[in-house]
Amino acid sequence: MTLRLFPDVPAVPHGGDSFTSLGNGWPVESLAEGAWLLRGFAIGAAQTLWREIERVIKEAPLRQMSTPGGQKMSVRTTSCGEVGWVSDRKGYRYAACDPESTCPWPALPESFLHLAQTAATEAGYAGFVPDSCLINRYDPGTRMSLHQDKDERDFAAPIVSVSLGFDAIFLFGGLRRNDRPSRTRLYHGDVVVWGGPARLRFHGVLPIASSADGPHPLIGPHRFNLTLRKAT
Ligand code: SIN
Ligand code: FE2
Repeated sequence: MTLRLFPDVPAVPHGGDSFTSLGNGWPVESLAEGAWLLRGFAIGAAQTLWREIERVIKEAPLRQMSTPGGQKMSVRTTSCGEVGWVSDRKGYRYAACDPESTCPWPALPESFLHLAQTAATEAGYAGFVPDSCLINRYDPGTRMSLHQDKDERDFAAPIVSVSLGFDAIFLFGGLRRNDRPSRTRLYHGDVVVWGGPARLRFHGVLPIASSADGPHPLIGPHRFNLTLRKAT
């Protein structure tokens, strides 16, 4: 419940008491040095983002990729942008073509670019120009084990991660796999940005629970995550 003592001040959804603002206006919560949570930052854009996601997955369908070890990932994945992240027996990498269709990935929608740039700026990373967006669909029971995002050419650019649909518990760890991660519940419309000293922190997602309220009204019975990166 959000207690509203000042009804003319907009309520921040799911707010804690650790808000600060980096100067442009959107309240941010610190997850670690260089890592920020922007609660609800993508809510206003969610319908447009969703329309674009549907368009991308028609052209480049979601698929379960295999890890280099041969196991299928539980999430379903596709990409858009100049390059897309792929995983198979040969390893993790970025590729200019979708290996399923052998065609270039769909272009990065303008709305993805705009959201990523404004979120990065709010988090203190002005000038971010992503060239790739990984789209992950989590169905109830699926998860993302702790990993680092380190297949990009350089780590100067931040990561912008957008949550849509069902909630998730996001794990944000340290620079070593064994560092104990913090747990943060991410809701529809939340955006996490990490870069600088946090760029190589381990992170992951606990198994998604299905919602007692039924499917999400916009996204259906899923969680979608958009990860925007500068890969090349
Ligand atoms: C990822 O790091 O690959 C996904 C993170 C998320 O789903 O929130
Ligand atoms: Fe990641």
